[in-house]
Amino acid sequence: MESSVSLDFLGELRRTHSCGELRASHAGHRALVMGWVHRRRDLGAVIFIHLRDREGVTQVVFLSDVDPAIHAKAETLRSEYVIAVEGRVERRTPDTVNSNIETGEVEIVAEQVWILNESRTPPFPMEDAVDVAEDVRLKYRFVDLRRPRMQHNIVLRSKVSFAVRQHLYSAGFHEIETPFMTRSTPEGARDYLVPSRVSPGNFYALPQSPQIFKQLLMVSGFDKYFQIVRCFRDEDLRADRQPEFTQIDLEMSFPQQERIFEVIEPMVARAWEAAGYRIEVPFPRLSYAEAMRQYGIDKPDRRVPPMHEVNDLFKGAGLSEHDLPLMAIYVPNVGTISRKERDELKAFGTERGLRVFDDAKRLERDYPEAMAQVRQRTGAGENDLLVLAGWSGLPSGHRPEETVYQACGQLRLYAAQKYNDRHKLLDPKRFEFLWVVDFPMFEWDEEDNRWNAAHHPFTSVHDDDLEKLTSDPARCRAKSYDLVLNGVELGSGSIRIHRRDVQSKVFAALGFSEEEAKRRFGFLLDALEYGAPPHGGIALGLDRLVMILAGETSIRDVIPFPKTARATDLMCDAPSSVPERQLRELGIALRKA
Ligand code: AMO
Repeated sequence: MESSVSLDFLGELRRTHSCGELRASHAGHRALVMGWVHRRRDLGAVIFIHLRDREGVTQVVFLSDVDPAIHAKAETLRSEYVIAVEGRVERRTPDTVNSNIETGEVEIVAEQVWILNESRTPPFPMEDAVDVAEDVRLKYRFVDLRRPRMQHNIVLRSKVSFAVRQHLYSAGFHEIETPFMTRSTPEGARDYLVPSRVSPGNFYALPQSPQIFKQLLMVSGFDKYFQIVRCFRDEDLRADRQPEFTQIDLEMSFPQQERIFEVIEPMVARAWEAAGYRIEVPFPRLSYAEAMRQYGIDKPDRRVPPMHEVNDLFKGAGLSEHDLPLMAIYVPNVGTISRKERDELKAFGTERGLRVFDDAKRLERDYPEAMAQVRQRTGAGENDLLVLAGWSGLPSGHRPEETVYQACGQLRLYAAQKYNDRHKLLDPKRFEFLWVVDFPMFEWDEEDNRWNAAHHPFTSVHDDDLEKLTSDPARCRAKSYDLVLNGVELGSGSIRIHRRDVQSKVFAALGFSEEEAKRRFGFLLDALEYGAPPHGGIALGLDRLVMILAGETSIRDVIPFPKTARATDLMCDAPSSVPERQLRELGIALRKA
């Protein structure tokens, strides 16, 4: 771009203050500030500039009677020009004080101005209030990141990382790096592969997590490890999933599950403190089985009341078939809902296999005593939404009652979200943490007709369930746990298998042959034979944590340079094709799709 104004050099100019710093007490001081022209108001003889840097905004005034040459230079300024201004700080008269900005009691009367750089007209204004399409924001991310909301989110992320580091260092953890160019890790998503030039036909895999390496670090005797680390997973993307994301990853030797919670709870409290919130620790604990029964999901949003099983109150009434659970779902302060809304609620449940009893009045007429007890059990009053739901057929699967809980849980969340404007329970500033513990060891894979590890294959089975590994895998509990916040899985971890014989049994239960296990994870299996201590750990999603803290609903808004839902970077235009020569060097030939 050919410059249309004459630009000045930075030379030896040095800032005396930031743009967010000046107060009434600075009146009479000299100030030299630098930043971006946020707004410009030209009243002829007087030009006002709002000058912005990361700390805030300061008003600068150019008066033609102070210095006509400087005033003339100010006339050339446009949005997002980068300038330096020197002048005297003056108190504003009471009627011109701007209480919307922290520096609003003062302004700088400019005596010198340097234009350090000009700017093309930005693709969108720097105001948060302006709604801009996300693909435009992502294409011009360097401009988007100037907006106050994004500045706040990214700085918050930095503060949270610092708080986490401070806590973990003081709790005796060492920060240790693990490789990015490695081989496949066991988190169950697809790998991102990196071709090797020096051994053509071979590929590194980018780590889905540092899981194996952190276990190896325990075998090596480091005792307490952590890392704030990038992980890579080629999976379907959603608002809370990115192909590359960041984990707060840690591992400890000789821990029980509670020792890990004792590290995480104050760490999370410190992170929340960094954002200006106080939260209560310890967090409540709930078993997976109870979470399913009460919320129909393993990541309950506890801002909304749980469901209740009420089969016992309707014995013989024919509301629930095949001895499957009949659930009472209650959402407070919804008030009366219209016929149409009731039909929508019912249709939502029916689509998920439920028989929905949406007319509490009618149920009360038909089953007065049972319904009185339902109200007592749930605590539902006249102004609350109360529906019963049971299964309409016979669900398949190894834990059929879970299918019912899950569908009812979805109905509960649907109602909670749909009527939030009435009950306002889903307040983003209310933080309901929860540890979900005792997950099942295995999940049945309907497609492949086999058991998969519910967490990952290195997770320890409950001491009491070791014998059930082969006889009753559906009922084996794992020593694994999730940290859940407001319906979002923040983190996940487990006590690991440290004995080679137990690891073999788990691989066998998962249907891995010894050869396959050796091929995929041989180095970890070897390590287990060289004095592996009992160990365990956890990883928290930093992006999700900051997303909730920032009150955002997408992790893209707390990641400086995120990818789109199609895993592309619109700014850099990645992924992109590469020259044929580069492919040849790598021994790669592309196939036509
Ligand atoms: P897990 O796979 O559950 O466990 O991941 C831990 C946490 O990482 C976050 N997370 C993600 N965040 C954004 N985008 C993604 N694609 C994504 N995938 C996961 C979530 C999740 O809770 N190695 C184990 C941890 C352990 O056992 O120590 C692991 O990676 O917040």
